[in-house]
Amino acid sequence: MLQVGGLRGDNYICCKTLLNKMAVSYSFHGQVVLVTGASSGIGAETAVHFAEAGCDGLAMVGRDQGRLEEVRDRCTTKGIDKSKILLIQEEMTKDGGPQRIMKAVEEKFGKLHILVNNAGIGGFSSLSDPELMEKYDKIYALNVRSTALLTQLAVPHLIETKGNIVNVSSVCAKAAVPNMLAYNISKAALDYFTESTARYLASKQVRVNSVK
Ligand SMILES: NC(=O)c1ccc[n+]([C@@H]2O[C@H](COP(=O)([O-])OP(=O)(O)OC[C@H]3O[C@@H](n4cnc5c(N)ncnc54)[C@H](OP(=O)(O)O)[C@@H]3O)[C@@H](O)[C@H]2O)c1
Repeated sequence: MLQVGGLRGDNYICCKTLLNKMAVSYSFHGQVVLVTGASSGIGAETAVHFAEAGCDGLAMVGRDQGRLEEVRDRCTTKGIDKSKILLIQEEMTKDGGPQRIMKAVEEKFGKLHILVNNAGIGGFSSLSDPELMEKYDKIYALNVRSTALLTQLAVPHLIETKGNIVNVSSVCAKAAVPNMLAYNISKAALDYFTESTARYLASKQVRVNSVK
């Protein structure tokens, strides 16, 4: 589900409908898009939709180079030239990971219009789990910390282009699933990150939204 406007909002649109609408109704000509977690699932589909919607540059982040290449090949069937796609094989939680991602985008495209913070992990954890803290640290490191850092690094470019940030959250942010404690916390934090950054960046004409 999409939270329109970034600032709470009662206005929800089905995510799938949104992606279809994007492909059909919107043009991203001239725009450079960065999608994290683009080697599978929602991130891969998002990248393919941006390719179909005519974006001018597409940077895709993941750890599995083979699967990134498969998604790139799907994107090129939608009309985008291979030369306009940048694959970034990176472990986002490693020291310097987000910095290397933004440097690669800067070197290839020199600008950024849309950042999709999609990379995320989940998994079961609860108060009775002896590994709760290990899981908490791992999930938080990707779902919140590296996302916040990548956003911080991208923001100067997004201010320049009056761009957009889309954070991929989860219904778990609002309706806690009992056995997904660490994940619930991380997505609730991501939602608050979304709201805080939306408020901060609104005057700079950068929109920040969350999809669930
Ligand atoms: N699927 C759902 O039902 C659902 C529901 C609500 C919200 N979400 C959210 O939607 C997002 C995508 O979910 P999904 O189900 O599409 O996930 P997925 O298929 O498991 O894909 C996760 C993506 O994140 C990348 N990734 C994971 N850890 C990474 C790391 N440390 N560094 C860099 N990249 C990393 C993976 O790359 P590699 O595979 O190449 O390592 C992969 O491209 C997540 O934020 C998730 O919380 C999903």
